[in-house]
Amino acid sequence: MLYHIPWINMPVRTAIAIWHQLTKYEIPDLAKSSVLMRDRSRVEETIQAMHRAGPSTLQVISDFDMTLTRFAHNGRRCPTTHNILDNSLILSEDCRNQMRQLLNTYYPIEIDAARTVKEKLPLMVEWWTKVHELLIQQKIRKDLLSQVVKESSAMLREGYKGFFDHLQEQHVPLLIFSAGVGDILEEVIRQNQVFHPNVHIMSNYMDFDDCGILQSFKGQLIHIFNKREGALLHTAHFLELRDRPNVLLLGDSLGDLTMADGVATQHIVTIGFLNDQVEERKESYINSYDIVVVKDETMDVPNAVLNYITTGK
Ligand code: TMP
Ligand code: MG
Repeated sequence: MLYHIPWINMPVRTAIAIWHQLTKYEIPDLAKSSVLMRDRSRVEETIQAMHRAGPSTLQVISDFDMTLTRFAHNGRRCPTTHNILDNSLILSEDCRNQMRQLLNTYYPIEIDAARTVKEKLPLMVEWWTKVHELLIQQKIRKDLLSQVVKESSAMLREGYKGFFDHLQEQHVPLLIFSAGVGDILEEVIRQNQVFHPNVHIMSNYMDFDDCGILQSFKGQLIHIFNKREGALLHTAHFLELRDRPNVLLLGDSLGDLTMADGVATQHIVTIGFLNDQVEERKESYINSYDIVVVKDETMDVPNAVLNYITTGK
């Protein structure tokens, strides 16, 4: 026997099915077709536990290039912090060509699903070392970097302002952990008016001489596969945050998953942006990240998760 709800002219069973569908996800953005999860209910349970613990127990750790910045806009690739430099006329044409050739050689290796991290690691060190040597030869002037970023097509993901501002309002620390160039990264977020006091950055910083000319890079090189070592080197930073054992981690490379290795975590939710080579890498991303966001240039998913953790909405 088929019962009907007369005022909406719908069988009861259909109405219940629709109701279930509508109330199934606490966070509707997680129901988007661009979102993939291997264990949806565990992710929702963790987010709920993080909400119960409250924003005072939360810290956010994020990669920069292609995670906080866009991968593409209107069909064109957006620059990484290194690309901002290799597109700029402050470098000689020869240097720009060499950097682009290196990008064409090594970027396909970085995203090659058929090679292991062990195989890629020495090649990534080789890439970063060659590029930094080239940059040092260019005698880059510190006072020109702000203009270089202004003239670039660098773009943070849509919704970035809500993300940075919300973290600031909730007093949640944001650690940006980047294998890019720290000085350029800072300038990008400063020019977008989101370099708030709760933002901390670990990256490759340029070292300038007394005349403001680039002479080397400071500290240990950070490339995409040694973020774990970087995290363990900066345990003092994490110790200061030991009352914040809940982590929301954002990345776009599998190497980014090690960025929280210096934290004694209670709950962690990892969100991975899968921007390129989607079919080849989908499986490994689903197996590694809790939430995978496929070809989506917005901060909608991190913002929705963050809002739920901090406000329950
Ligand atoms: P990330 O850790 O902030 O994402 O930065 C690393 C990205 O920078 C990585 O995806 C490769 C990219 N990259 C360039 O685009 N050009 C370069 O010359 C180098 C060394 C890296
Ligand atoms: Mg990245």
